[in-house]
Amino acid sequence: MEIIDLNAKIQFSFRIFEFQFKKYYKMILITGATGLVGANLMWHLLQQNDRIKAIRRISSDLNPLRTIFSFYTASPDDFLLRIDWIVADLLDEKSIVEALTGVKSIYHCAAVVSLANNSHILMDTNVRGTQILVEAALRCEVESFCFVSSIAACGKAFSNELVDENTPWTENENRSAYSLSKYFSEQEVWNGIHKGLNAVIVNPGVILGVSGTSTGSSQLFTQVRKGLMFYTNGGSGYVDVRDVVRAMTELMAQRKYGERYILVSENCSNKLILSMMADGFNKRRPFIGVGRDVLNAVGAISEMIGKLLNFTPLIDRSTARSASNSTYYTSRKIETELGFKFNPMNKCVSEVCRFLDSRTNLL
Ligand SMILES: NC(=O)c1ccc[n+]([C@@H]2O[C@H](COP(=O)([O-])OP(=O)(O)OC[C@H]3O[C@@H](n4cnc5c(N)ncnc54)[C@H](OP(=O)(O)O)[C@@H]3O)[C@@H](O)[C@H]2O)c1
Repeated sequence: MEIIDLNAKIQFSFRIFEFQFKKYYKMILITGATGLVGANLMWHLLQQNDRIKAIRRISSDLNPLRTIFSFYTASPDDFLLRIDWIVADLLDEKSIVEALTGVKSIYHCAAVVSLANNSHILMDTNVRGTQILVEAALRCEVESFCFVSSIAACGKAFSNELVDENTPWTENENRSAYSLSKYFSEQEVWNGIHKGLNAVIVNPGVILGVSGTSTGSSQLFTQVRKGLMFYTNGGSGYVDVRDVVRAMTELMAQRKYGERYILVSENCSNKLILSMMADGFNKRRPFIGVGRDVLNAVGAISEMIGKLLNFTPLIDRSTARSASNSTYYTSRKIETELGFKFNPMNKCVSEVCRFLDSRTNLL
């Protein structure tokens, strides 16, 4: 009788140990790990000794990631070795379900980030890809989920009001394909939340940081460093990538599920942000303002030529519209609820410029 008792006790203790072990060792999955947000997030999580599984595609280039890590450390490879890579594609459901094995939390940072009018690519990756991931997360009973949406998925304010998390969404012809794709991908996450997914959503402004590429918001740094005379008259909300990833992990730690948070450090005119960059590189500030009408005309003409000659123009009506648009945002919600403090943009910009100046091969 005593032996049976002992056996049962051992089995019970083993089960508890196994449960604790699995709980402890379950991993965090990051999509978009080779991109600006995903890579900075991985760095942040590695500092907390989290076990990370990261998605990359067969075609993914890991060099930008090494550059991003070298912004933080002189030995990026030591940290890269701590990542468990899995080859998967958001649009390949089977690979996504396989990637979720042993995963407790997901940070969904992957997306196509482009203001060009390639709407079917944007809708496919951003909307359908998010839907596939959300469904898989529900099926695999993932404990928590953080989705990187965008201010592009937020409403538009009338007059000079600041946009917040509750400003109503209005769909009109002025929305870019990217904006629509972010709005509808966020809706996929809300659908998941209604089905029981523990998800929190962040809506960052234009994210600045070291990306290791010259695409996306890094294009601004590249252009200014080469010397830029022109600025457009619009403006937007800006945020340091380090604040974005810190907010994401803090919101997950605080289990702020079923909520969305705008992440904007400062609202800046395009002229101001470009001038900060020019100061950071010791270049002349841009001094010729380009008005909305001129920009729209250039966008329309280059779009037409692109269609006729079958190439993607550098600027089209959609990019022209966003470059001359001014919408401003407030992050009061996260500041109040978490006491969150943002890094000032001039500090962020000058640190990025200093790093890029030390790496002449990057621009
Ligand atoms: N950058 C901004 O200013 C900004 C502002 C607000 C919100 N956001 C949002 O923040 C998130 C991250 O943006 P980011 O700037 O880090 O973008 P990014 O640097 O362009 O990185 C995009 C990432 O998505 C991955 N990806 C694209 N298509 C994929 C697919 N079909 N399957 C798997 N992975 C795929 C890319 O992988 P590969 O390396 O294989 O291409 C890359 O890792 C996005 O949701 C974006 O909408 C960005």
